[in-house]
Amino acid sequence: PGMINSTRTLAFGDAAIAEAATLIKSGGIVAVATETVYGLAGDATEPTAVAEIYAAKGRPTFNPLIVHVLDLHMARRLGEFDRRAEALAEMFWPGPLTLVVPRRAGAGVASIATAGLDTIAIRVPAHRAMRALIEASGRPLAAPSANLSGAISPTRAEHVLASLGGRIPLIVDDGPCEQGVESTIVHEIDNATRVLRHGPVSVNALLATIQARVGETWRDIPGVERFDPGLSGFETRIEAPGQLASHYAPSKPLRINAIHAEPDEWMIGFGPIFGDASLSRSGDVKEAAARLFDLLHEADASDKACIAVAPIPGDGVGTAINDRLRRAAHPR
Ligand code: TXA
Ligand code: MG
Repeated sequence: PGMINSTRTLAFGDAAIAEAATLIKSGGIVAVATETVYGLAGDATEPTAVAEIYAAKGRPTFNPLIVHVLDLHMARRLGEFDRRAEALAEMFWPGPLTLVVPRRAGAGVASIATAGLDTIAIRVPAHRAMRALIEASGRPLAAPSANLSGAISPTRAEHVLASLGGRIPLIVDDGPCEQGVESTIVHEIDNATRVLRHGPVSVNALLATIQARVGETWRDIPGVERFDPGLSGFETRIEAPGQLASHYAPSKPLRINAIHAEPDEWMIGFGPIFGDASLSRSGDVKEAAARLFDLLHEADASDKACIAVAPIPGDGVGTAINDRLRRAAHPR
């Protein structure tokens, strides 16, 4: 990402939120306190803002991001909630619980934010700073933890500064995070409940809620795998979110580093190579990252049997683009 002159830290308050919201509304990114860890927030409906998040973090791959909203009402516009998801949301929101549910098409969330998946991770934070920023910007905010990829999650503004200083314009400081660990992630799809990441909301609390409100015990929940029925009687299977998320890959064969298209190929261009559509005519990798999943979908839907993609430079978020393209090109 382009280095910026300096990263400013502002203490939480009206002035800090007004400035942060102005940045968000112009497609920028801002680090902000939440009750779990500091998040690096951007407008989830703006693909270039989301690409900026990946670039600032130096993320090697496009992991799907959590989208933060103010309440269940706003959440229902982005995802589909079954009875158990509703029960968990009503019990634990606002708070450190993320629900992965089927994504609603046409809700305006950029496909880069969900890494092209047909599911979406949604959280309603309880923290005043993050809530004030969602409210003032009027946008659902995509926000991973505000640290360089692979580094420890930040629970103080100073951690954010040490990791991302010079890469982001602003940190909204509201002291140390109350929870200090990332939210519990529950995957609630196809009538199956799975815990993807342990966090502040315990498995027992999840179980008790489902039992009390939906009248189902964990044992009764189809799709939940129990590998230790001994001690508590209930056990969840933990899967690394990145592994569970089978990232979008086109159904057609894909060729990378292509200079021109064969007759049976739909060509995705970049820079001087125009193709049928271009990731970025000006050769901007951030713009390319923002358009990548959209164009892969378009190529997949075209009347050509194969897909070709022009070479993309490996600098900045270009590394992530090339990582995704190599996976997509890998024979299946
Ligand atoms: O506490 C938190 O959740 C913090 C604060 C800022 O809200 N955010 C956070 O985001 O930890 P991040 O990006 O570091 O972790 C998000 C996790 C990733 O492991 C990702 O794979 C998973 O959520 N995830 C997001 N969308 C998903 C989806 N559709 N399916 C499965 N996993 C998903
Ligand atoms: Mg993280």
